[in-house]
Amino acid sequence: MPVDASNRLLRWYAVDKRRLPWRAEGGQRPDPYRVWLSEVMLQQTTVAAVRPYFEKFTGKWPTVGALAAAEEAEVMAAWAGLGYYARARNLIACARRVAENYGGRFPDSEAELLKLSGVGRYTAAAIAAIAFGRRAVVVDANVERVVSRLFAVEEPLPSARPRLYLLTDSITPADESGDFAQGMMDLGATICTPRAPACDICPLMTICAARAAGEQERYPVKAARREKPRRQGIAYWLEHDSHVLLVRRPDKGLLGGMLGLPTGSWGEVPGDAAPAVAEWREAGTVDHVFTHFALSLRLLCATARDRSHEGIWWPTDKLSEAGLPTLFAKAAARGAEWRAAA
Ligand code: ADE
Repeated sequence: MPVDASNRLLRWYAVDKRRLPWRAEGGQRPDPYRVWLSEVMLQQTTVAAVRPYFEKFTGKWPTVGALAAAEEAEVMAAWAGLGYYARARNLIACARRVAENYGGRFPDSEAELLKLSGVGRYTAAAIAAIAFGRRAVVVDANVERVVSRLFAVEEPLPSARPRLYLLTDSITPADESGDFAQGMMDLGATICTPRAPACDICPLMTICAARAAGEQERYPVKAARREKPRRQGIAYWLEHDSHVLLVRRPDKGLLGGMLGLPTGSWGEVPGDAAPAVAEWREAGTVDHVFTHFALSLRLLCATARDRSHEGIWWPTDKLSEAGLPTLFAKAAARGAEWRAAA
């Protein structure tokens, strides 16, 4: 049982922690707004991808009150490209709730934090520990990997999750659990990596069960993954006088609340929903992978006779400012190639 895992890790973190824009320096407590924003952005997303978005958001909206007062469409557009768009809708709802019901101050307990939109078990624990110095057990995918190796957990993910939570609890210190959590995440991201972990420089090397057995890469054991189903769809690039037709997607559902090209339904057979009667031309297929399926989106392009069709006619030379999610940014790039060739 690695009893001094937390001491070793905290000592390592004090020296080797990553300098990240949401972290406070010199033993200060970080701003809860910045911690919350970074933790929501970091859900299912890497530090490298989050960094520029974090800078953009805190530049535009430096406080939770400023974010609460922002236009919803502007926040959605600023989030474009980061993915998992429900996070952006929850972000706005959460900011407004904190501004209105909590006087602009984030609650400091896990139980209160859990009541906020988009704040689940992991995020509540991370904010309570990092921003407020509360003891909390913080488990993300990096922590799961570190702990599964440290204890050589044979049970496969995802069913091993409750056990990994208890094991993390068993090594979480009473004080400095925020630094401990961030140290575990940094260790997982920089040393205890999925492949070729740098065990030689790991602060937990001498107490790691997987390392002792020389089997560090075998953990975490994972249940066999099923291949993602593939869906088919059609998107429409309808252009008139250097403007292209965009539509705002319904709030509920995939890419909810985001702008995109008109599409039919996606399934084994693509839904046909051409927004106008026109001479539609094939402009290739865009592939995109979502959490639960892969999508092949055929792009059809045409020129409209007028701009009578309902939607948002967006200037084609300003498409980069439309805040399109990555799927539609890829399709729009195809549309732009089509118009250049036409
Ligand atoms: N991943 C999620 N939250 C993190 C944090 N606070 N530090 C490093 N990596 C993280």
